[in-house]
Amino acid sequence: MAYILPAMKAMVNPQSLPQGDTAPGVYSGQGAGYAQWRDQRLSRWPVDPAALTVPLPGPDAGADALAAMRDNCDRFGFSLYACDGGLESAQLHELGRRLGLRRLVTNPLAEDDGISRLTVSSGKAGRGFIPYTDRRLRWHTDGYYRPHGEPIQAFLLHCVRPAASGGENQLMDPQIAWILLQERDPALVRALAAPDVMTIPARGRLAGQGTVTVPVFQYTAGGQLVMRYTRRSHNIQWKADATTRRALEALEELLDADSRWRLRLRLLPGQGMVANNVLHDRSAFQDDPAAPRVVLRARYLDRVKA
Ligand SMILES: [Fe+2]
Repeated sequence: MAYILPAMKAMVNPQSLPQGDTAPGVYSGQGAGYAQWRDQRLSRWPVDPAALTVPLPGPDAGADALAAMRDNCDRFGFSLYACDGGLESAQLHELGRRLGLRRLVTNPLAEDDGISRLTVSSGKAGRGFIPYTDRRLRWHTDGYYRPHGEPIQAFLLHCVRPAASGGENQLMDPQIAWILLQERDPALVRALAAPDVMTIPARGRLAGQGTVTVPVFQYTAGGQLVMRYTRRSHNIQWKADATTRRALEALEELLDADSRWRLRLRLLPGQGMVANNVLHDRSAFQDDPAAPRVVLRARYLDRVKA
């Protein structure tokens, strides 16, 4: 499949362009406002990870650094940062708070402060939680299994210590995925926005949580896009119709293609990302047993706004 970059308008007044992910009406997929937003959004890629990395001289991010991270999140869906000396859990939480992330979503495997410490753990891995293994994590958004009204809208990932080898991440902005599917066939986007397109049965969830049926693409009351997705087929029931199947195949093709729309990176000590729950994966890795990979993760019901 060829994803064609739409022709850029010869004369574009930046002042007239809808900004970021709060532009009203763009998800209609129609009109001049949509076309301008689409062209602007697509034109930013490819991008170099270094260009999206905000240096933090210490744990307390200054106003300029916070503004740069907000701007990256608005234009690309995520921002990277590199903090001299690293961050403790409480400092990571404070960084999120200063970016407007207040409603932390914890889970039974998280630490007492609500932040998950992702490292190989035979106990947690034995319960079927792949983040706590050294295996690859396929493309997903965080918390895709959560109920319709409580989506995870942002996450922080902070590298305390990388693996001896492997453990790379790839990222893709859901808005880019939405645009490329819309441009291919609007019926694909409509199929993935159906409220009953993805069902996660109770057996695929933590004990005590029931079956959840949710859309892949959800539009919030504020006009923002939330995406739920997992490439795992285990414990997912997709709506059984031809258009849904075609939409999922198109999305898989998009994620698998070595295209300008994906960003690949490997977080080093002190580096991290804040993301409006963009699509991401993680490659398998090999640990040095004396110094295993440790990544801190926090998830929020809020998103980073410009
Ligand atoms: Fe994740």
